[in-house]
Amino acid sequence: MSKIIVTGGCGYIGAHTSIALIAQGYQVVIFDDLSNASEESISRIEKITGTRPELCVVDLKDKNKTNTAFEAHKDASAVIHFAAYKAVKESVEQPLQYYENNLFSLINTLVAQQKFGIKNFIFSSSATVYGIPESCPVTENSPVKRPFSPYGNTKKIAEEILEDNSNSGFSTISLRYFNPIGAHKSGDIGELPNGVPNNLMPFITQTAAGIRKKLMIFGDDYPTKDGTAVRDYIHVMDLAEAHVVAVDRLIHKKQKENFEIYNLGTGTGYSVLEVIKAFETQNNLSLAYEITERREGDVPIVFASTELAAKKLGWRAKRDLNSMVKSAWNWEKNYRKENS
Ligand code: WQD
Repeated sequence: MSKIIVTGGCGYIGAHTSIALIAQGYQVVIFDDLSNASEESISRIEKITGTRPELCVVDLKDKNKTNTAFEAHKDASAVIHFAAYKAVKESVEQPLQYYENNLFSLINTLVAQQKFGIKNFIFSSSATVYGIPESCPVTENSPVKRPFSPYGNTKKIAEEILEDNSNSGFSTISLRYFNPIGAHKSGDIGELPNGVPNNLMPFITQTAAGIRKKLMIFGDDYPTKDGTAVRDYIHVMDLAEAHVVAVDRLIHKKQKENFEIYNLGTGTGYSVLEVIKAFETQNNLSLAYEITERREGDVPIVFASTELAAKKLGWRAKRDLNSMVKSAWNWEKNYRKENS
């Protein structure tokens, strides 16, 4: 059974990916500093899969501790690297913390992999590297621009580091996520942002749960069908399954290049109002919201071309918007019941 190290594996996408890896028969070891996620994720993964992944609590910004952690797992076949701070607004307020955490953690991980001979690396990147795209759908060859936020820029810089660091002895796949939402069908795990959610879906579910008074829609004067901004929302389990395909590709040496990039989206864009409508209809409820000003740095319209992932990975997203919004609400309800 091949061992996969999942850094940041207690987080939203990392935990869902760990579930998909275990389902595929991989042994998962999670490295996480628990700065932005809880050890509770390990029990949730165990409840869903019947397997409790090993957790190594480690701050990847600390070079020595990172080496010690990797030495204990030098038999791993690959690393999937989720460990990073990811709040756009916070990164604008604290740029240095973001560059230090996201880039030092990445570099220490790569140096440790080189030291212990772990030759495969999957990177959690983001469509934010495209900035405001000239046209949609966005392909992997669309120009990468200076992202608005330091968070986005850490993803762009990381990809440049990875490209320079990839060679015949070290293979990398960078996965550019569009907008991951939803939760595992069990309702036993899902998105759990610290504090007030920045992202749309957790704000919607917390509003529906009565935790937030109402959702503020950031602008309805965009050049879209209803004036609200358009994104390519993708079910987190589709995203998780794409990571398993990417790991399989590297472990079985199917990759054609030492450094490959794939968009992970559905190829369909939905506006904020369309997401709200789907959420209300699928969950038979009415959501309180108000239109306010645009949020600085927001992109009007962005959605993915998914052809490269389909052609070279043989992967396409399977779950639709209705499934995403239903699963998101199912998790929120279960979580509030657990903690009532
Ligand atoms: C989606 C849409 C908002 C909240 C960012 C990062 C990306 C990824 C996901 C980090 C936009 C609107 C949102 C709200 C709203 N990684 N919105 N009211 O900005 O597309 O992407 O988060 O998590 O790398 O860039 O995602 O969910 O914040 O916003 O109207 O309270 O919902 O304006 O149009 P975004 P988002």
